Amino acid sequence: MITTKGLTKVYESRGRQVTALDGVDLHVREGEVFGVIGQSGAGKSSLIRCVNLLERPTSGTVTVDGTDLTALAGRGHRAGKELRRARSRIGMVFQHFNLLSSRTVQDNVELPLEILGVSGAERARRALELLDLVGLADKARAYPGQLSGGQKQRVGIARALAGNPKVLLSDEATSALDPETTRSILQLLRDLNRQLGLTVLLITHEMDVVKTVCDSAALMRKGRVVESGTVAGLLATPGSELAGELFPVSGHATGPDRTVVDVTFHGEAATQPVISQLARTYNIGISILGAAMDTVGGRQIGRMRIELPGRYDENVVPVGFLREQGLQVAVVDPDAPAPATRADAPTATTDGPGTADGPGTTGSPAPTATPLAEETAK
Ligand SMILES: Nc1ncnc2c1ncn2[C@@H]1O[C@H](COP(=O)(O)OP(=O)(O)OP(=O)(O)O)[C@@H](O)[C@H]1O
Ligand SMILES: [Mg+2]
Repeated sequence: MITTKGLTKVYESRGRQVTALDGVDLHVREGEVFGVIGQSGAGKSSLIRCVNLLERPTSGTVTVDGTDLTALAGRGHRAGKELRRARSRIGMVFQHFNLLSSRTVQDNVELPLEILGVSGAERARRALELLDLVGLADKARAYPGQLSGGQKQRVGIARALAGNPKVLLSDEATSALDPETTRSILQLLRDLNRQLGLTVLLITHEMDVVKTVCDSAALMRKGRVVESGTVAGLLATPGSELAGELFPVSGHATGPDRTVVDVTFHGEAATQPVISQLARTYNIGISILGAAMDTVGGRQIGRMRIELPGRYDENVVPVGFLREQGLQVAVVDPDAPAPATRADAPTATTDGPGTADGPGTTGSPAPTATPLAEETAK
């Protein structure tokens, strides 16, 4: 539904060049909620602004619903007719709502329809229908100043839907909201995605947002997409940084001659008492150093960092046993240098379960989970 190829954006500011996007290839499938995550300055907003051509990319192409937007003339407010028409099929939700304070809620929602030249009666009908859809039917006559943040964002969403878009872009739509309101707005986006078959591309710096609503996700760093895929696929990919951020586990070996492994559980396997089976089968004592469990897309998924007695070469068989049970297993190499990515990732300090229990993790490099040779990223 949305495809970017080699998307590059270089800003010129005060004689200096800033490369905000550096060859981004992104593919968002029809009907999915796709989350882009990354630290401040990674290029997330630039990406979304290039997707609807509010910014013209320096090079590369953007195709939305089969139309190559980059081939159409104009940009921003000087967009040509064809580009304007294509853009009306792309809704945009903003962090700070961008509502006009002098207009009522209904008039705010009608604004894009006015621009499209829709007649007054039809505009009013459509606006009221949309306000009903976002749960604000009773606020049509209110002014933005009389609404809570969550209600303002609902108006922003209704307005974004006015042109009957197939694609909704959202740039940090919930980052100005409290956690409970965030949840309700995310739920609304999810409902709209399902009800209307809307494809949603959302930018966020909160891992929880990805966990709650996204089917797929990409991680951006320094203008590049460094990882992307379905959330389930990422979680099944050994060594995936996004998976590590979604399900952080920590904890260090309690002594020398110990093997620390990260085990990822999916669906069926999550409900089986695999760890106790392992202990019984090989008669070894297993310590759990950290764990995180959650439901993603209705599937139970979890990660656990466990410690086995003995060095890795003494644990090849138990590790093989875990793999035979259908688990993803990555051996944590205590000597591996922490990848720069981990240390400076904005979400590295998430408060998910499993991070609080790692004794002495601060100040020392985070050990890396290294996928072993026979592991395939699938
Ligand atoms: N209009 C502009 N002119 C010059 N540089 C810009 C402009 N917009 C963005 N940049 C630069 O491009 C880079 C990427 O910015 P962008 O806003 O896309 O990041 P972001 O990932 O959205 O960050 P944040 O999480 O803080 O919103 C930054 O270095 C930023 O300073
Ligand atoms: Mg931004």
